[in-house]
Amino acid sequence: MVTIRVRSKIVAEPPGPAARRVIDVMKRNCYDSTFTYPLVIAGGNGSFLHDVDGNSFLDFTSNIGSCPLGYSHPEIMQILAEQSRNGAHKIAGQDFYCKEHAELSERVASIVPQGFRTFFINSGAEAVENAIKIAYRKMSTTTPSMLPGVSCINAFHGRTLGALSFTFSKPVQKKGYPELPVLRIKFCTSDSDPEIDAAEKLLAENKVAFILSEVVQGEGGYNIASRQFIQNLRRYADRYCVPLILDEVQSGMGRTGKWWAFEHHGVRPDIMSAAKAMQVGMTAYASALDPGEQGALSSTWGGGSRIDMAVGAKIIEVIKEDRLLDNATVMGAKLKKGLQELAGKGGIADVRGLGLMIGIEFDSKQNRDERLARAFKKGLLLLPAGQKAMRVIPSLTITEDEVREGLELMSQVLSG
Ligand SMILES: Cc1ncc(COP(=O)(O)O)c(C=O)c1O
Repeated sequence: MVTIRVRSKIVAEPPGPAARRVIDVMKRNCYDSTFTYPLVIAGGNGSFLHDVDGNSFLDFTSNIGSCPLGYSHPEIMQILAEQSRNGAHKIAGQDFYCKEHAELSERVASIVPQGFRTFFINSGAEAVENAIKIAYRKMSTTTPSMLPGVSCINAFHGRTLGALSFTFSKPVQKKGYPELPVLRIKFCTSDSDPEIDAAEKLLAENKVAFILSEVVQGEGGYNIASRQFIQNLRRYADRYCVPLILDEVQSGMGRTGKWWAFEHHGVRPDIMSAAKAMQVGMTAYASALDPGEQGALSSTWGGGSRIDMAVGAKIIEVIKEDRLLDNATVMGAKLKKGLQELAGKGGIADVRGLGLMIGIEFDSKQNRDERLARAFKKGLLLLPAGQKAMRVIPSLTITEDEVREGLELMSQVLSG
């Protein structure tokens, strides 16, 4: 019999008194955004997050993939200690050079398609924003009018107005905001989907500026594109001479067991976006698409968050040195198998995933939301995705013991 070592610990039912004080202040002063449950983070160690009341949670969110090495990783702590001595910690990074920018670009060059150039920016939305700007710039040299972009149903590409135009995942995200022109296609998860080549007809009938898609939809529900679907997008983009943009903000940087989810599908994009695990936003693109003219892209803080860029570069190094792509593949398979064995319990309708990007589909939104709240009370952190799915995205450093503990907690969450 395997003994499961439980390291999550609830000492004060969350939200405890210290958490409630913080939340009260925020409710008074701040826009009440997408908070899922009342977790007030104090710190963390490895795969565990600690709240301000002394509770420890096994973190299966990694802050939506933004903390791929978990918490207090010694090499990251070392970088933070070094950076703490630098008084010019944040600079106007598209106006002045710094070595952190250069080093991150070198590390990135070793993991993106050969010959790609990079542009660093603040967030995932801005990474997508600049991806579509690069595409428009290219197309505007051949077609002066405002062309539509092609994007998928249930896509999520961020919330700035440009990126939001191509987002689809929830009506509340778009209600009342203006849009750039967009043509929608179905995001096909099966090679035998009758709409697998719908983009071909769309491109034959319309002039478009670009095709934009995720390979694994994140916010939209942890849906994995079929290989044929992504290969078709590549083929049609080539045939009709439009850039293919793949958005890897959530799925990139090793999350799926490869640096980029598109590697599973045997294609390369013309333009790609990343953020989250990289700590800063990044648009990378084939050099032929470089806008050239100075000032076409820029931003005060783009390439200027020196601490974040130094951490991002170290994350890439640690993922390589500690073989964390392999860990994501192996631990992801164990976690997915364990969750699939729980299917049928507690209203689970489906479990799907690539590496450590796993979605659990429930029979209803209400059931999913109740299980999320119950998991939180038991010391397991999870997040919703789409209408009725849960996302499971632990750090890439997760151990076998932590997989077991997570499955044990999940089994309790699903009982009754
Ligand atoms: C695929 C994808 N693109 C873009 C974004 C937007 O990133 P950010 O929240 O950093 O603006 C997200 C965020 O979840 C995402 O998952």
